[in-house]
Amino acid sequence: MYGLPLSLTTLGSQVLGRYAGASGISGLFLVARWRWTPYQQIASYLPTHGNILDLGCGHGLLSLAMGLSEPTRTILAIDHEPWRVAVAQKAVSDLANIAVETGSLLDTIAAEHWHGTVAGIVIIDAIHYLTPDEQVAFLDHARKALMPGGVLLIRDVDASAGKTFFINRLYEKMMTGLGFTMAKDLHFRSLAEWLNLLEKAGFDCTTEPCCRFPFADRLFVCRLRAAQTALAA
Ligand SMILES: C[S@@+](CC[C@H](N)C(=O)[O-])C[C@H]1O[C@@H](n2cnc3c(N)ncnc32)[C@H](O)[C@@H]1O
Repeated sequence: MYGLPLSLTTLGSQVLGRYAGASGISGLFLVARWRWTPYQQIASYLPTHGNILDLGCGHGLLSLAMGLSEPTRTILAIDHEPWRVAVAQKAVSDLANIAVETGSLLDTIAAEHWHGTVAGIVIIDAIHYLTPDEQVAFLDHARKALMPGGVLLIRDVDASAGKTFFINRLYEKMMTGLGFTMAKDLHFRSLAEWLNLLEKAGFDCTTEPCCRFPFADRLFVCRLRAAQTALAA
């Protein structure tokens, strides 16, 4: 669990400064989202160069944190909500190493041209919008897309976390119910179920709390198991 930062880091100011034209509610949402999500720490887990896919990128906050901190990362950010993509595209418009496109995260990761070429895949607070079968398919595609030594980062909710899980779920129900986030349903798993799913999909993972009060999110830092790396070679 991270404490709520009292002031913005230099990177935080650079990232939020890029949304200076965002309208009142969007602007407030972006500041709150940045303060409650440790994007800078999440970005630090990724390789410092190579192709990075930010799937379900939202307004592009993490893509900016990754791309501004390490310009040698080449980032493709995907979201299926055109209005969020438009906000993100405006924020990154002068940056050569970040592209933002409208699309399905599952279709993107399934493209064969990624096979063995991707240094990092991030899916932050979005895998729970996929059905359980789609989550399995997503991990299968991610395993194929990663290059040896590549990293898959997933942040999602621990459904066994008790009261804090219910706060996450309430927040998600509110965001999807109000139409602020486009999703059919929510498919959370307990910590043990996420770890079991990732293990079965061929990843070695470490996990740690990755949230600020009062939420129950965890970060899963996943690498191809040695046998999978040998198969990809
Ligand atoms: C809770 S937001 C998180 C945004 C971003 N990852 C972040 O942490 O700032 C989840 C995002 O996933 C997107 N999303 C959900 N399902 C998707 C799908 N199947 N394909 C592409 N984007 C999707 C939503 O539109 C939303 O912007």
